[in-house]
Amino acid sequence: MIHTDAHGHPLSGASAQAASLYDQALRQFQCYSGDPVATLQQAVADSPRFVMGHAMLAWLFLTASEAGPAGLAATTLKAAEGLSATPREQAHLRAATAWAEGRWRLAARGLEDISIAHPRDALALQVGHLLDFFTGDARMLRDRISRALPAWSAEQPGYHAILGMHAFGLEECGQYAQAEFVGHRALELDRRDGWAWHAVAHVMEMQDRVDEGIAWLHEDSEAWSKDSFFAVHNWWHLALYHLERDEIPEVLALFDGPIFGHKPATAMELVDASAMLWRLQLRGVDVGDRWRAVAEAWAPLARDGWYAFNDVHAAMAFVFAGRRDLLAEVREAQRRASSGAGDNALFTAEVGAPLLESLVALAEGDHRQAARGLRWVRPVAHRFGGSHAQRDLIDLSLIEAAIRSGDRGLAEGLVGERAATKPERASTAAMLRRALAASPVAQAA
Ligand SMILES: [Fe+2]
Repeated sequence: MIHTDAHGHPLSGASAQAASLYDQALRQFQCYSGDPVATLQQAVADSPRFVMGHAMLAWLFLTASEAGPAGLAATTLKAAEGLSATPREQAHLRAATAWAEGRWRLAARGLEDISIAHPRDALALQVGHLLDFFTGDARMLRDRISRALPAWSAEQPGYHAILGMHAFGLEECGQYAQAEFVGHRALELDRRDGWAWHAVAHVMEMQDRVDEGIAWLHEDSEAWSKDSFFAVHNWWHLALYHLERDEIPEVLALFDGPIFGHKPATAMELVDASAMLWRLQLRGVDVGDRWRAVAEAWAPLARDGWYAFNDVHAAMAFVFAGRRDLLAEVREAQRRASSGAGDNALFTAEVGAPLLESLVALAEGDHRQAARGLRWVRPVAHRFGGSHAQRDLIDLSLIEAAIRSGDRGLAEGLVGERAATKPERASTAAMLRRALAASPVAQAA
C-alpha cells in the first residue's frame, strides 16, 4: 500500500510510520523548530526505500549552505538512487542533486517546476523559497509562493508557512502593508511560525518602526524562540533595533546571550554574529575580544568556498581578529570558487571577492579604496543573496568609507539617499552631521 503525505502526494517506499514521521519533519521545518533531521533519519531507518525521506534529508542538509552538509546531501541522494519513485519524487532528487553539485539556480528552477505541477508540495515551496533567498531573487521570493496560493486554504495543514513565506517575499519586494497583513494572518494560524515573525520584523526594520519592532519581537518571544533553529536570526533583528536606538549595552547583551552565547558553529548563525559586530565597529563601539571568539568559530569554515555570502562574513571576523592566516585561506577559497563550475563562481566573482576586498580595505583604513570598491559592488550585491536588511551593511560601510576618506560630496549624496527612505532615524541624522564635516583623513587611520 502506498502511503501519502498530509497533502495527498504518494510517498514511495514509506511505511505508515515513516510517512507519519515525514509529516512531522515537515511540520518542524515549517516552524523551524525541533530536529527535523533526526525525525527523517528515523523515517529512513524505518523505511530505507523511502524516496522523499532521503530527498527531504538532502534538502535540509543543503539549506545549511555549507560544503560539509552539502557533501552529506550528496551521500543521502546516492542512497535514493535506483529506488522506485514517482515523477514528482524523481524531480526532487534531480533538483537536490543539482544543488549538491553547486547549481543553486538549477535547483531553484527544478523546484519551481515541481510547484507548478504540485502547488501543494510544501517542501518544494519552502526549499525553493530558501533558494530564492540564497540567490537574492526578491521577485521569486514572492511569486514562487503567490502562484501556489490558489491551491491553498486554511483547511490545508501548514498553510501558515505558505503565508509566512508570502509575507517575507512581499516584504523583500517592498509591499510592506500587504506583507504585514499576511504575516499576521500566518501567526493567527500558528504562533510558532518563526519565519512569519521574521517577515513582520523585516517590515518594521524597513519602515523605520524601531520601537514597534522591539515591542513586536518581545510580544511573544517564547513563540518564535523556544526550540527554534531560526531564533538566532530573530534575536539579531531585535539587536538591530536596539542598535538603531544606540542602546549598545542591550545590543551587546543580546550578542553575548542568544546570538553568540551558545557558541554557534553553523554559518547560518555565524553570519549574524559577524554582521552585528561589523555594525558595532562602524559605529566606533569597542567590542572587546568578541571578534576573536567569532573568528575562532568561523575558522573551520575558512576554506569552505561553498557560498560567497558566508565567506565574506567569515572574512569580516578574520580581519578584525587579526587572523591574516585565515583571511588568506578565505581568499584562496574564493579563488578556487571563482574558477569552479557551480553558481558560486558567479556569486564570488561578481560580489563575494570584490566585497571582501572592499571591506578589508575599510577595516585596514584604506577608505578611498573601500569606497571605490563598494560603489561597484553595491548595485549587484543582491546576486549573492541575503535580505535588504542584511545587505544594508554594504550601504553603511560605503557611507563610512566616504566619510572617513573625506569625500564630502559622495558622503552627502549617500546620506541623502538614506534620508529619503529612513528619514526618522537618529543614525541618519548623525551620519549627515558627520558627512557635512567630512574632510580628508590620513589613510592609515
Ligand atoms: Fe532577516
